[in-house]
Amino acid sequence: MRFTIPRDIYFGRGSLAALKELRGKKAVIVTGGQSMERFGFLGQARRHLEEAGMEIAVYEGVEPDPSLTTVKRGAEFMEKERPDWIVALGGGSTIDAAKAMWIFYEYPQTDFEKIKEPFSLPELRQKARFAAVPSTSGTAAEVTAFSVITDETTGIKYPLADYNIVPDVAVLDAELADRMPAELAAHTGMDALTHAVEAYVARNASDFTDPLALQAIRMVFHNVVKSYEGDKEARTKMHDAQCLAGMAFTNALLGITHSIAHKTGHIFGLPHGLANAIYLPYVIAFNAEDARAREKYAQIARAVGVEEKDEEKLVDKLVEFIQAMSDAMKIPQSLKEYGVPEDEFRLRVDEIAAEAAADPCTSSNPRLADKEDIKKLLHCIYEGKAVKF
Ligand SMILES: NC(=O)c1ccc[n+]([C@@H]2O[C@H](COP(=O)([O-])OP(=O)(O)OC[C@H]3O[C@@H](n4cnc5c(N)ncnc54)[C@H](O)[C@@H]3O)[C@@H](O)[C@H]2O)c1
Ligand SMILES: [Fe+2]
Repeated sequence: MRFTIPRDIYFGRGSLAALKELRGKKAVIVTGGQSMERFGFLGQARRHLEEAGMEIAVYEGVEPDPSLTTVKRGAEFMEKERPDWIVALGGGSTIDAAKAMWIFYEYPQTDFEKIKEPFSLPELRQKARFAAVPSTSGTAAEVTAFSVITDETTGIKYPLADYNIVPDVAVLDAELADRMPAELAAHTGMDALTHAVEAYVARNASDFTDPLALQAIRMVFHNVVKSYEGDKEARTKMHDAQCLAGMAFTNALLGITHSIAHKTGHIFGLPHGLANAIYLPYVIAFNAEDARAREKYAQIARAVGVEEKDEEKLVDKLVEFIQAMSDAMKIPQSLKEYGVPEDEFRLRVDEIAAEAAADPCTSSNPRLADKEDIKKLLHCIYEGKAVKF
């Protein structure tokens, strides 16, 4: 087995200044729409890199759930600018797009079909190294071996996976996360919780990943609602917690909450974290039929303070706690409640179930799940019905 994380993780308020420590000639900063510029973080990042003696170019305009077209455009920009550092500044979407641009910058002749194959990338870092500064507190893309890219012709998301795209440097400055609107803090926070819970029960979970996942879960339970309400201390804790969760799941991998989220987000217009928040309780109920998964969910429940003896009761309480957190942050509990029209759901459910079963996250789920299982699960998720199979 293998455990891989970035070499350097800078954390704490004001740690954006750590960009001064990078050594190189030219950096391309990749960023999203406008928030990083508007709040002054783009300017600050630029000044720190200039202080490090680097020339700077900026690639702006990465959209949420970035497309292959954006990635290709960014890679062309890199080829023109020839940076030896790529600095991604923004949410998971920006960091993911920058990672994929990096692949095409290093290997312009490669194609998407080829790199979709997990763990198939040639060696990167022939041209540039990679630093990531997250502005949301959820995806942990700053420490993971993943990049989720949307094929805009089908609306389907493909997670690229390879240890080569684990960034060299991650900078966790909660000043950036302070700017998230409440809803974004809620959605990204529930994404982080899902990462930690799925990693803790995943088939590849190990003694290296379990402590990280469990500590992340404790921190999210204590802080996500306060972070949603705007408490700064809680925002800092969430920024660090999501990174711990990331170090766990990049090595232990995930499960079918993510498989389903990847295949429904674009189709039903659900932000990634919101999709996970809705699906996680149903997936826990499904997976808890597996004895090992049930035991691990029970361990999670005890870690967050549930005092029951019986494993089944512990799992039930864990699900109730998660639903209560979602409730407190005005997150719906079913796709119907979210407003997905029934005819649209029925029209797409077969295709979604087939795609989700084939998603790379399905193979690390603790309980085997085929297309039919996922379809049944999706019906429960749509209607808000208890999972009993
Ligand atoms: N690479 C990974 O390991 C990994 C893991 C999970 C999810 N993902 C992917 O990450 C994407 C979601 O990323 P995300 O949840 O970070 O959201 P995001 O990056 O899509 O950002 C959401 C919106 O918030 C804005 N925003 C970002 N930071 C802000 C801030 N500090 N203040 C105000 N507005 C801000 C962005 O401009 C954008 O409009 C999805 O595509 C998902 O599939 C990747
Ligand atoms: Fe996620």
